[in-house]
Amino acid sequence: MTTHAGRTYVVTGSASGIGAATAALLRAQDAKVIGCDLTDAEVTADLATPAGRRSLVEQVTAYGPIDAVLAIAGGGKTGLLETNYFGAVATLEGLRPLLAQSLAPRAVAVSSTSALAPADERIVQACLDGDEAAAVAHLAADPEAGGPAGGYGIAKRALNRWVRRAAPTPEWAGSGIALNIVAPGVVDTPAAAYILTDENIRRAVESVAPQPFGGFPGRPEWVAELICWLAGPDNRFVTGQIIFADGGSEAVAVGDLHWR
Ligand SMILES: NC(=O)c1ccc[n+]([C@@H]2O[C@H](COP(=O)([O-])OP(=O)(O)OC[C@H]3O[C@@H](n4cnc5c(N)ncnc54)[C@H](O)[C@@H]3O)[C@@H](O)[C@H]2O)c1
Repeated sequence: MTTHAGRTYVVTGSASGIGAATAALLRAQDAKVIGCDLTDAEVTADLATPAGRRSLVEQVTAYGPIDAVLAIAGGGKTGLLETNYFGAVATLEGLRPLLAQSLAPRAVAVSSTSALAPADERIVQACLDGDEAAAVAHLAADPEAGGPAGGYGIAKRALNRWVRRAAPTPEWAGSGIALNIVAPGVVDTPAAAYILTDENIRRAVESVAPQPFGGFPGRPEWVAELICWLAGPDNRFVTGQIIFADGGSEAVAVGDLHWR
C-alpha cells in the first residue's frame, strides 16, 4: 500500500484538471503539496518564460527539501513549445537538487498521445539541444511543420525523448531518482473542452484515436492515480518509461512495432 504521508510533492498545473486531481489525491493521503500554476497556487509562475521558470525554482527552493516533482502543467494556453517542453524540463532539472535528501525521490512528467503524430525532427532536435529560440523560430516560420498535432505534439514528443535520455543517467537513476512520463489520451479537463463540446470534433478524435478499453474521455483522477503511484515510494523499479493512460489508443496506433 503506497504511503504518501509525510512526503512533499511539487505539482505544476495544480490549479486545474489532472494537476488538481493529483494534488487532491496526494493531500487526501496526508502528503504536503506545493502547488504551482499561473494563478490559484502556493507558487505562481509562468513556465512559458525563462523568468517564470527561474521564479518557480526560487520559490519552491524556499520551502526546503522535497520528495517528488510532478511536471504536469501544459496544454495550449501558453506557448506550446515553451510550456510543454522547455517549462517542463526546466521544472524537472531546476528542482532535481531539492530531491537529494529524500529517501525515495521521484519525478513524473506528463506527455500526450499527441506525441505519436508525425513531427518535424528539426524542431524536436532543437528542443533536445536546449535551443529554445531556434525551436520556436522554426515553428513560427512554418506552422505546417508541426504536422497534425502542431507544436503541442512536437513538444510532447521531445519531452518523451528527453525523459528517455535523462532517466538512466547518473544525475537521475544514478542518484536514486525514478523519472517517468505519463502520456494520457483524451481526458475530461478544460484543456480538452474544445474536443468534448463539439460533436464533430469529438467523433473525429474518437475515430482517429480509438480507445478500445473504453473510457473516452478519461477522468483526470484515473491519470492522477498512475502519476501518484509512479511518484510514490512503492515505485522501486520503474524508470525511464513512457506510460500511456489512454484506453489502449497507443496500442492500436503503434501495434507490435514498439521494439527495435
Ligand atoms: N486533457 C487531456 O485530454 C490531455 C491529454 C493528454 C495530455 N494532457 C496533458 O495533461 C497535462 C494537464 O492538462 P489538463 O488536461 O489537466 O489541462 P488543464 O488546462 O485543466 O490544466 C493545465 C494547468 O496547467 C497550467 N498551465 C498552463 N500553462 C502554464 C504555464 N505557462 N505556467 C504555469 N502553469 C501553466 C494551467 O493554468 C492549468 O491549471 C498537460 O501537460 C496536458 O498537455 C492532457
